[in-house]
Amino acid sequence: MSNIEEQKKQLEYIAMAADIVAKKNEELGRKLKCSVVTFGCQMNARDSEKLAGILRQVGYDLIDEETEADFVIYNTCTVRDNANQKVYGHLGLLKSRVKKNPELKIGLCGCMMQEPSVIETIRTKYKFVSLVFGTHNIYKFAELLYRMLSSDSQIIDIWEDTDQIVEDLPVERKYKFKSGINIMFGCNNFCSYCIVPYVRGRERSREPKEIVREIENLVADGVVEVMLLGQNVNSYGKNLDNPISFSELLKEVEKIDGLERIRFMTSHPKDLSDDLIEVMAKSKKICKHIHLPLQSGSNRVLQEMNRRYTKESYLELVDKIRKAIPDCAITTDIIVGFPGETAKDVDDTIDVINKAQYDNAFTFIYSKRTGTPAAAREDQLDEDFVKEQFDRVLSRVQEVAKERNGYLVGTRQTALVEEINAHDDSMVTGRLSNNSMVHFPGDSSMIGSLVDVDIKEAKGFYYIGESVK
Ligand code: 5AD
Ligand code: SF4
Repeated sequence: MSNIEEQKKQLEYIAMAADIVAKKNEELGRKLKCSVVTFGCQMNARDSEKLAGILRQVGYDLIDEETEADFVIYNTCTVRDNANQKVYGHLGLLKSRVKKNPELKIGLCGCMMQEPSVIETIRTKYKFVSLVFGTHNIYKFAELLYRMLSSDSQIIDIWEDTDQIVEDLPVERKYKFKSGINIMFGCNNFCSYCIVPYVRGRERSREPKEIVREIENLVADGVVEVMLLGQNVNSYGKNLDNPISFSELLKEVEKIDGLERIRFMTSHPKDLSDDLIEVMAKSKKICKHIHLPLQSGSNRVLQEMNRRYTKESYLELVDKIRKAIPDCAITTDIIVGFPGETAKDVDDTIDVINKAQYDNAFTFIYSKRTGTPAAAREDQLDEDFVKEQFDRVLSRVQEVAKERNGYLVGTRQTALVEEINAHDDSMVTGRLSNNSMVHFPGDSSMIGSLVDVDIKEAKGFYYIGESVK
């Protein structure tokens, strides 16, 4: 079936599911309530907006409190084991609620559902879950929802892969003024610790014209900032029938009238091109922030992780970025405790942290993921040793970020105002081009607009400023 036919079919299922929900709403004398709970990365957050868009069209009221909902759907993550444990924790709490209210429906989707052992557990231990699907058939959510609403048995539908990219289904955005947008799906890199290529499948890029069209529609609907999303945006477009590079795509997106800011996530250091750095340096819209996962600073560990760069080539890249775009923030991901990692390897990671001067770094303890090459290794490390090394890395990351934070004090920057400050309602919170947050006096009328701000003071990870009148 072509993508367009599939899209039409799903729209029909939305209408059919809407009929069922309308009847139930009438019987109940109120609208059915539904809650979408998201774990994991920005890609999952975007997928949840797609789920929410369909649920709204079908006639549900969307609410935040999962305990009040008639249908709770968990969009899961499995990158580290603690993400899985959280989902089982939520399901455990729901068990007693389902006993009291058999009408309560529970759905599970996302990366964790692509693991066969998880499906087995749900089939045997969590029979009260109504609907289970994975990452490859999320575009069939309307159809699956219809099946769930017209049946009392557990529906489990997991696919091994897909080559479909279905466009133009309803989306319910969390923010009116900014949006994530998928430019590609999946990952071909097979870093030896990572489960993503197994649960998200091979890399598939969307056609540039579809991406531009989606952004144009978002802009017409009030969006001023987009975040282009992919596991490895730097290899975008290589496998399209008419190949195009990520930097060429950025140039196309930059041309869109009314779009003010462009972000992207995530860059793989092995694929970040000179072209991209040049396009960023010249651009008026691309934000000055690159998330550049390091994972480890030890050449031996990097090789065993299958990262395909060295400590030296990584630092050269950082240097190139700093020279071409001096005010660019660089952030990173670091894993501590990869099998066989020694204190000496961690010294190398700390050396890179010192030299790269990250604005922020997300530090993770290595988590063994079944099916990945690293999980089969026999030299898994002792937990206490890993915790010690982790603390060493974390405290260095925090010190460096603190030293680096403050470099914008005394400058004038543009902030996109995102919300009223959570602690002081006479202040608003905005995001700067480099992804730092700034708090300054303001009111709700500013939300969604770009405001010039004089940066007065640095406080830990954020700034205090004053809007320019
Ligand atoms: N254990 C710990 N962290 C991991 N990540 C990916 N897989 C694992 C794992 N098995 C981290 C990487 C990646 C981020 C999204 O999650 O640092 O960049
Ligand atoms: Fe995982 Fe590596 Fe792909 Fe990132 S690039 S999703 S770490 S396999």
